[in-house]
Amino acid sequence: MVPGDGIGKEVIAAALEVLEAAGTKEQLEFTHFDWSADRYLKDGTTLPGYADGSGFRKLESDFDAILVGALGDPRVPTNIHAKEILLGMRFKMDLYANVRPVKLLDEALCPLKGVKPADVDFTIIRENTEGLYCDVGGVFKQGTPDEVAVQEDVNTRKGVERVIRYAFDYARKHGKKKVLMSDKSNVMTYAHGLWQRVFKEVAAGYPDMQPSHMYVDALCMQMVRDPRQFEVIVTNNMFGDIITDLAAGLQGGLGMAASGNIHPGKTSMFEPVHGSAPPLAGKNVANPMGAILTAAMMLEHLGVSTAAKKIEAAVLQAVQQRKTTSDIGGSMGTQECAEWIAQQVAR
Ligand SMILES: NC(=O)c1ccc[n+]([C@@H]2O[C@H](COP(=O)([O-])OP(=O)(O)OC[C@H]3O[C@@H](n4cnc5c(N)ncnc54)[C@H](O)[C@@H]3O)[C@@H](O)[C@H]2O)c1
Repeated sequence: MVPGDGIGKEVIAAALEVLEAAGTKEQLEFTHFDWSADRYLKDGTTLPGYADGSGFRKLESDFDAILVGALGDPRVPTNIHAKEILLGMRFKMDLYANVRPVKLLDEALCPLKGVKPADVDFTIIRENTEGLYCDVGGVFKQGTPDEVAVQEDVNTRKGVERVIRYAFDYARKHGKKKVLMSDKSNVMTYAHGLWQRVFKEVAAGYPDMQPSHMYVDALCMQMVRDPRQFEVIVTNNMFGDIITDLAAGLQGGLGMAASGNIHPGKTSMFEPVHGSAPPLAGKNVANPMGAILTAAMMLEHLGVSTAAKKIEAAVLQAVQQRKTTSDIGGSMGTQECAEWIAQQVAR
């Protein structure tokens, strides 16, 4: 458990309470790490063993899964601790599939007219280790009128192929058939031309599936106009980052969104989609449901499915009965909401 900064600490405490109520004591043993802005400001540590990679190897050898709250604090304007801890785990532990279920739990949470829970039920698989977020690039003549800034979009055949394959396997495992790949290959002909070729090749090995394609701009419009058409969407790192926030809007906002950073067979990391929300921190107002649903996702991944299903059912009840925080229309605090869900789970 890495609660991190701001509301990360509050929502992870909430998730832990619900995990314990789900009777997971036999299966789960928790270790807490204080990696955060506080720790960084105290002794300069981001993630111990970051520089030589030993910290990441230790996470892989000693743990089955990692649950993270959020990282980011205005006292660390460079955000170096968040970058090294969070992007460090994603990149250095090669957690190549960022899995984001998009599920509307109640009609009242969707800003679209007449959209029912059954209409918003799809998953976005975002490539998590390459693309524009590789930190490859540079600046030239910085601070002069002739300044040049270059950021490279890195796409490898191996990286593209494995995430597309993951999307098809995920669809098959979850009883879905429609796998849509989104890119901008009409203009990014080299990088996304590779996505096009690999998608066609991989799709040919899944004759039971229905592969399709949309440019990302068209996809954004379609996600708003008719979200019911989607089952599984696979895309690159940056487009995935953007469309998952749009998708969070469809399900009631960032406080509701869960995610997993996965490398099949290896230690994976789970985190709510939201950040540390500094203005909300310490006020007991943050919505804990994204973190609680993330904990359920982690349980599912670890094969503790019964407890995961109990938690999901309790969150659904809380939403339906308005036992929620104010961002989605309720009047509870973070702790009260978590307690209510924990009690339902324990029952
Ligand atoms: N994965 C992560 O750890 C992560 C992700 C995004 C941003 N960040 C960091 O978090 C800090 C704040 O970033 P930001 O403001 O862009 O994003 P944010 O997700 O923290 O907040 C965006 C908006 O959503 C609201 N919100 C977020 N989570 C909520 C919750 N659980 N309940 C109710 N409302 C919620 C916030 O109040 C705010 O209006 C920055 O330092 C940023 O770098 C971290």
